[in-house]
Amino acid sequence: MPFPDRIVLIGFMGSGKTTVGGILGRRLGRLFIDTDALVVQRAGKSVARIFADDGEAGFRDAEAAALQGLARRGGIVVATGGGAPAEPRNAWFFGEGAATFHLRVSLAAARERTRHDRGRPLLQRPDDQVQLLHERRFSLYERLGAGVDTDGRSPLEVAEEIVRILEGPMPSPRPGGGA
Ligand code: S3P
Repeated sequence: MPFPDRIVLIGFMGSGKTTVGGILGRRLGRLFIDTDALVVQRAGKSVARIFADDGEAGFRDAEAAALQGLARRGGIVVATGGGAPAEPRNAWFFGEGAATFHLRVSLAAARERTRHDRGRPLLQRPDDQVQLLHERRFSLYERLGAGVDTDGRSPLEVAEEIVRILEGPMPSPRPGGGA
């Protein structure tokens, strides 16, 4: 069985989607696409700048448009921004034709990995808000993708586990799962 057209990585900020996606792309001989990078490239400004100028709504529109632009692309590995799966209009992207993986990261590990980062506006919010976001998002990601643990593991190990899952029988979606 060939791999699905679209291999998609979802997960909270700091889960390692971009790093793991790059490794996975090279390992599978596929083009790797990071949707945040696409948005930044098209807008000609950083994510933080887009949030500041156009609000989160403006960023979400640009992100949804970037996903739409990939609709007909096959043979790709895609890392989506952490909020992309939370938008109902993006549900199609994680559904048919996609193998979606949730890179699980604890809040503590996500905080540790992003401690010098000032480019993610949502992480600049108060701790309790970030914690709530992490809790809510975690269960959403679990519904949409096969879970792969990342805490205490290298990006290479995570990528290798994804390859093993892809090579085995694909896990069926959870009952009640979206997309
Ligand atoms: C966001 C995650 C970020 C980026 C933006 C919003 C989110 O991407 O899209 O700052 O809502 O979780 P990463 O998950 O790649 O950090």
